[in-house]
Amino acid sequence: MNTYAYIGPFTELLPMDALSLKGGLREESLKVLHHQGILVKDGTILEIDDHSRLISKAREVGAEITIIDIPVVALPGFIDCHTHICFSGSRAGDYALRNAGSTYLEISKAGGGIWDTVTKTRQASEEELTLGIVARAEKHLAQGVTTMEVKSGYGLQVEEELKMLRAIRNARASLSVDLVSTCLAAHMLPRDFKGSRKEYLEVLGEELLPKIKAEGLSKRVDAFIEEGAFSPSDIIPYFKKARALCFDITVHADQFTTGGSQVAIDYQAISADHLEASTSKEIAALGSSNVVAVALPGASLGLGCGFAPARDLLDAGASLAIASDHNPGSAPMGQLLTQAAILGAMQKLNTAEVFAGITFRAAAALNLHDRGVLAKGKLADLVLFPTSDHREILYHQGSLQPMYTIKRGKVIYP
Ligand code: NIG
Ligand code: FE
Repeated sequence: MNTYAYIGPFTELLPMDALSLKGGLREESLKVLHHQGILVKDGTILEIDDHSRLISKAREVGAEITIIDIPVVALPGFIDCHTHICFSGSRAGDYALRNAGSTYLEISKAGGGIWDTVTKTRQASEEELTLGIVARAEKHLAQGVTTMEVKSGYGLQVEEELKMLRAIRNARASLSVDLVSTCLAAHMLPRDFKGSRKEYLEVLGEELLPKIKAEGLSKRVDAFIEEGAFSPSDIIPYFKKARALCFDITVHADQFTTGGSQVAIDYQAISADHLEASTSKEIAALGSSNVVAVALPGASLGLGCGFAPARDLLDAGASLAIASDHNPGSAPMGQLLTQAAILGAMQKLNTAEVFAGITFRAAAALNLHDRGVLAKGKLADLVLFPTSDHREILYHQGSLQPMYTIKRGKVIYP
């Protein structure tokens, strides 16, 4: 059976295909359809129509029909466009140290932070990493996530980075969520590398990226542009190399100090992520660019610092996506819906802006154009909430659990 129908009467269905990719959105611009049904063929949406008309069509084509007879809101499946869920070990010690007064950069300079996770991730086998990814991704799925990005970046040696990317590839076989992998080998200069930052990045560009390409392990390259990691001038030759090899670029930008977002703009990155330190200058530049600005409220909550200026970015005309940044150091929570709702409350983002940030604008941050809206021809990835009012979803800040998460037309949760 490859034809499925979900027949309402859905109380509300939010297709969002009429909403624009860039800038602020109006609360009232959310298109709400009542009493609908969705017909799915081969994983994509064949038809969205009034439920009584749709049920006849579904019978005609012999679809497997699920009647949902309680009030339900259907949204596009959520897209978490920035995570680091391939890792080993815990950084609970860092969290306690930060809350006792140390900063993220101080802990990192003292040998903790990212390097601590690198040490533990190198000790883990590819299979152990795969199991960790699967367990974490399944928790995301329970909150309605149907597509997730996963970065490498805790290997920091050619073979160790490949091990991480292979673990991400292998995890796909055990998951119904789609995983998009990204090479973040430029996360920091590994402490055991005998050479300069420039030399390390040359190794990545000349040895690692061609191997990733040859094995088809990833189409995306990320770098952490930050004090203590890499400067814009360190990264530029590496990004040129990555672009010449046809990788999409994304940047960890303006987290503590500025500089990264301008590199993202100059090198036509798909997205610039973090942006907690962006000032009016960077906000204006991002607003007039096509780079998707990605806010990571989970990192602000994990580090106990301010949120990215999401409201100002939207007002400046930027496309704003929201992601969990799920990682063992700065963002161990990994609850996208909770974090997006909190960012909305703290930054005064309306319902349309928050939902856009975790659906079609997050798809744009991954350069994916086949998902993130409920419309004919798009992937049938949906999340259904047991309520008659879509505003209840953010109001409960993640504690209203999805009734179903649906991937390519099939129920994958519960
Ligand atoms: O997005 N900022 C750099 N990278 C990650 C944190 C990684 C870590 O602390 O392990 C981030 O916050
Ligand atoms: Fe990150």
